[in-house]
Amino acid sequence: MSQSNTPITIARGDGIGPAIMDATLQILEAAGARLDIEEIEIGKAVYESGVPSGIADSSWDSLRRTKIFLKAPITTPQGGGFKSLNVTVRKTLGLFANVRPCVAYAPYVETQHDDMDLVIIRENEEDLYGGIEYRQSQQVMASVKLISRPGTERIVRYAFEYARANGRKKVTCMTKDNIMKMADGLFHKVFDEIGEEYPDIEQDHMIIDIGTAKVAAHPGMFDVVVLPNLYGDIVSDVAAEVTGSVGLGGSSNIGLDFGMFEAVHGSAPDIAGKGIANPSGLILGAIMMLVHIGQGDVATKIHNAWKKTIEDGIHTGDIYREGQSTKRVGTDEFTAAVIERLGQTPSTLPQVAYKTDSKGIILPPLKDVKEETKERIGVDVGLCYKGKPDDLVALIKPCLTENLELHIISNRGVKVWPDGAEETFCTDNWSLRFLGKNGDDIKTSEVVTLLSNLNAADMNFTSALMLHSFDGAQGFTKAQGE
Ligand code: NAI
Repeated sequence: MSQSNTPITIARGDGIGPAIMDATLQILEAAGARLDIEEIEIGKAVYESGVPSGIADSSWDSLRRTKIFLKAPITTPQGGGFKSLNVTVRKTLGLFANVRPCVAYAPYVETQHDDMDLVIIRENEEDLYGGIEYRQSQQVMASVKLISRPGTERIVRYAFEYARANGRKKVTCMTKDNIMKMADGLFHKVFDEIGEEYPDIEQDHMIIDIGTAKVAAHPGMFDVVVLPNLYGDIVSDVAAEVTGSVGLGGSSNIGLDFGMFEAVHGSAPDIAGKGIANPSGLILGAIMMLVHIGQGDVATKIHNAWKKTIEDGIHTGDIYREGQSTKRVGTDEFTAAVIERLGQTPSTLPQVAYKTDSKGIILPPLKDVKEETKERIGVDVGLCYKGKPDDLVALIKPCLTENLELHIISNRGVKVWPDGAEETFCTDNWSLRFLGKNGDDIKTSEVVTLLSNLNAADMNFTSALMLHSFDGAQGFTKAQGE
């Protein structure tokens, strides 16, 4: 058990943030949490002072010092080139795992599914959240979905280790690898590979669409669910809503060196300043923080007192229900009720007893992966053009080089030449695939010559993406219909 004080950084955030942070700090203090608290300012005021990231340089110093961040929600300004501070903090500090327990508190909080008790583990840094986007033509925008092997290995292993450390029995992976065979396919493959090292944990994979439907309709089927970033974002909100209120969700963001703890909900500007916000999400986030820093004794005390308060029917407006609740309270009264119950335990809801010596989950080094032989076998050239594919081919033919031949043309991922269908709708952005003759390795200089020829022919090309094989297997997908 850690007896010395642990330095942490806090930020009060925007909207209901300051009120729920006050509530949480009061409870932490009353429960005897051993903390040295540094405070930084983030969010709306910082954005408005002209810092587009929403966090001042000096605040990073505090975070680097303490490595533990208890953060209230912030308001992200719409548009105007402001970057989401949440995404910036997660990525800057390498917080690769977002852990969101979703628990029903029936019959005390109304929920459609009494048996819900699952944990979403969402990859936090990759996928479409790289924010890498391009306008390719007048008509077409593209976002790049990046999934890496090391990023996937870490999150998948974290999910299995989390299951083991928390007495969970099953890990479910969700992807859309029937469509995204390479990016989502890698996530699924690494899940299967790493899963072999955890034979004590039941494991399965579901396609994300049916998986989300099952989480909404039969959440009792799930225990731990691990997902790529975007799916995790969506499924965790679906799951949080099914528990009864977004106000009841706490979450942790974990990296190899840093941890950030927060509520799942936002700054709720519609109820800010009214004294009615439910502080439970941030309180539950703070409980996760205490477990992470080895103060499981304090976490146990607060969590049991919080459950007893819920069980006693002392409810904020978002979960208040005539007949079931005994008293409708505001933020301050709810906080006082939790403090009053410190040392008590719930009688019906399961009691908690956290380990006091937890050091968080420590991951082993990444697995060694065999280096594959990479050969350059072609290039995809993006080109803006208005007209018919056959006319485009006639323009391209004189630009071909000695070893590169035009293999196919696709539009929005569908093959339109050769033998395209008349009915296929085409935008103004085309992709031309050039491959080395006889599958030969090609030289970069040959691609440069091709681009130079296209330029000389006044072709409006916008991108060139090299195509490779790895140990002979193509490192790119075929076009639909190819
Ligand atoms: P929100 O989560 O703030 O609010 C959604 C609805 O839930 C509102 O009706 C709100 O009153 C209610 N609600 C949320 N938390 C509550 C609580 N503790 N007690 C009682 N009711 C609660 O989502 P919204 O309105 O989409 O976003 C507001 C702002 O928050 C936006 O600027 C958004 O970017 C930001 N946001 C920040 C997050 C963070 O800092 N981690 C996460 C999500 C959104």
